[in-house]
Amino acid sequence: MSNYVIDGGNKLFGSVKVDGAKNAILPILAATILNNSTCVLNNCPDIVDVRAMVEILRKLGCKVNIDGSKIVVDSSSINTCSVPEKLVREMRSSIVIMGALIARLKRVEICYPGGCEIGLRPIDLHIKGLKELGVSIIEKHGFIHASAQKIIGTDVHLDIPSVGATQNVIFASIFCEGETIIRNAAKEPEIICLQEFLNSMGAKVFGAGTNVIRVKGVDKLHDTEFAIMPDRIIAGTYLVAGAISGGEIELTSVEPEHIQSVIGKLNECGCNIIVERDRIIIKRMGVLKAIDSIRTQPYPGFPTDMQPQLMALLTICEGTSIISETIFENRFKHAEELVKMGSNIRIDGRTAIIKGVHQLTGATVASKDLRGGCALVLAGLGAEGRTIVEDIKYINRGYENLDLKLNMLGANIKRID
Ligand code: EPZ
Repeated sequence: MSNYVIDGGNKLFGSVKVDGAKNAILPILAATILNNSTCVLNNCPDIVDVRAMVEILRKLGCKVNIDGSKIVVDSSSINTCSVPEKLVREMRSSIVIMGALIARLKRVEICYPGGCEIGLRPIDLHIKGLKELGVSIIEKHGFIHASAQKIIGTDVHLDIPSVGATQNVIFASIFCEGETIIRNAAKEPEIICLQEFLNSMGAKVFGAGTNVIRVKGVDKLHDTEFAIMPDRIIAGTYLVAGAISGGEIELTSVEPEHIQSVIGKLNECGCNIIVERDRIIIKRMGVLKAIDSIRTQPYPGFPTDMQPQLMALLTICEGTSIISETIFENRFKHAEELVKMGSNIRIDGRTAIIKGVHQLTGATVASKDLRGGCALVLAGLGAEGRTIVEDIKYINRGYENLDLKLNMLGANIKRID
């Protein structure tokens, strides 16, 4: 088990480049199998989840080469429709390979991804959408056996604007007869990035970023080279690091539009934030103030993936803040760890009530999921004394060299393997 040892209290100063987005590259990697040819992807983050998805592509028969932040996929040699169970269970977001395999091979065998640390993570909307496209699906012994003679474009209404279900229905419709219209589609920036990627291969996808997405079927796709968008959650994470530490941090290669809701909340706390075209500078101005109410919402609302990080900041904001986690049913596991560091947090179902204290104190805490683990690192930056964050494997799933990048800004973090 690897741990981070953090000696808190240093103000952070300096500039950090925001990496490519985990939640954009994962579906795009799945989509590379659609063109039966080559894709060159640039600005790719080197994180555990990307390597897991690359492993899935290789097990399907693709040739994949990773060269720094460039990934080249040749999907012309795919030789199976059966997705390795162990890899799907390790990373639930691999479920979007299902729609891509149905489009490419008209069949797929994949296990249920199962729940994860933050909730049950059902895929009923994925299944419902595929069935409406004419895919026959048999679910037994924890596996999904799907096949289709042909995909007929149709209207698919998502009961929830699910990111993954939107992606799977888009993929399955790429070569459909006619047109699919997805209503109540997810509007996240990662969906816009995916549309741009698909259309760069010759697909006809329109409307991403709105709640109605249209996919006109095409016969085939061609090669492409494409750059992954910056990671809005990593950007938000570094902004919170600047607020917690009391220093001044500049983010570069960032898309401010993608994190307006996070910038708004940090302004409410009393931070001074300068926003330019692809640059953001944050500086804490004196004592931070509590935020009456934060509700996580689908984009463009406040992102659930930033809830743990903001909670870490709110523990030292003067007054009482209330967070409602409306997206996932079990995403407050970091709270009990923050209490070990001296914070005053009470959990009532999907609501967290945080009473600010002057300063946290270092403690040994356990990382239990990706963003919760990151929140503990942020809390350690501002805490008095030493914090040990155990089991950082979760953090490595979504952050490339988080310790090295924070140390370059003046933090004092050691990784102990
Ligand atoms: C994506 O997960 C992200 N992951 C998550 O980021 C993010 O938190 C989530 O979208 C919401 O923005 C990736 O993109 C790889 P959903 P996804 O389907 O697609 C319910 C991170 O930390 N639902 O939009 O799995 C579901 O239970 C991760 O980077 C159904 O009920 O999320 C949840 O309550 C965590 N049935 C809500 O919808 C379904 O069939 C939103 O889930 C599908 C989802």
